[in-house]
Amino acid sequence: MAIRLGDEAPDFTAETTQGTVNFHEWLGDSWGVLFSHPKDYTPVCTTELGMAAKLKPEFDKRNVKVIGLSVDPLDSHMGWEKDIEETQGTAVNFPMIADSDRKVSDLYDMIHPNANDTFTVRSVFVVGPDKKVKLTLTYPASTGRNFDELLRVIDSLQLTAKYSVATPVNWKDGDDCIIVPAVSNEDAKEKFPAGWNEIKPYLRVTPQPNKVG
Ligand code: BEZ
Repeated sequence: MAIRLGDEAPDFTAETTQGTVNFHEWLGDSWGVLFSHPKDYTPVCTTELGMAAKLKPEFDKRNVKVIGLSVDPLDSHMGWEKDIEETQGTAVNFPMIADSDRKVSDLYDMIHPNANDTFTVRSVFVVGPDKKVKLTLTYPASTGRNFDELLRVIDSLQLTAKYSVATPVNWKDGDDCIIVPAVSNEDAKEKFPAGWNEIKPYLRVTPQPNKVG
């Protein structure tokens, strides 16, 4: 069954390039990004894995652990990682699940048979420290994902979790945020000492809370 926002991220134990991983245990108190790749030794995936590796300091800063998956076996992953390091200039620095029995792919509905009955699509699941699914993305095999967008969404999710703000259209780090409707004006006075601009009672704009003085 498809995984929906707010569902508990299904737990699993899997072989990876960094040893056996129990997903929930491995996540601990971190946020997580689980993302799938159609197949080893494919060009778009090679660039994505290189970028994910380069962005490790950005993921670390946000307390996010990254784990990749493709349905090829471990020895294939190991050989491909050498190519990724050679061509992308960064060694893969996160575990890659060897899902040749498709256990995890099936659990997360990553194989869409009407697109391709063998390979996974490009799925992304962002999981919160509460192990709940916060974001799902599904891209076709032929389109590489935008990792700047992934970091942007993680920033938005973390602001919502910590400060009860939402982020408006095309928001980027440092832009004003929106006070979520569930926060009353009375509570907002305490939560948002920098104040807010009430454009409409349901549209209250406040400076990004973690950038204020
Ligand atoms: C790729 O990762 O480059 C790719 C994989 C499957 C189909 C098309 C492209």
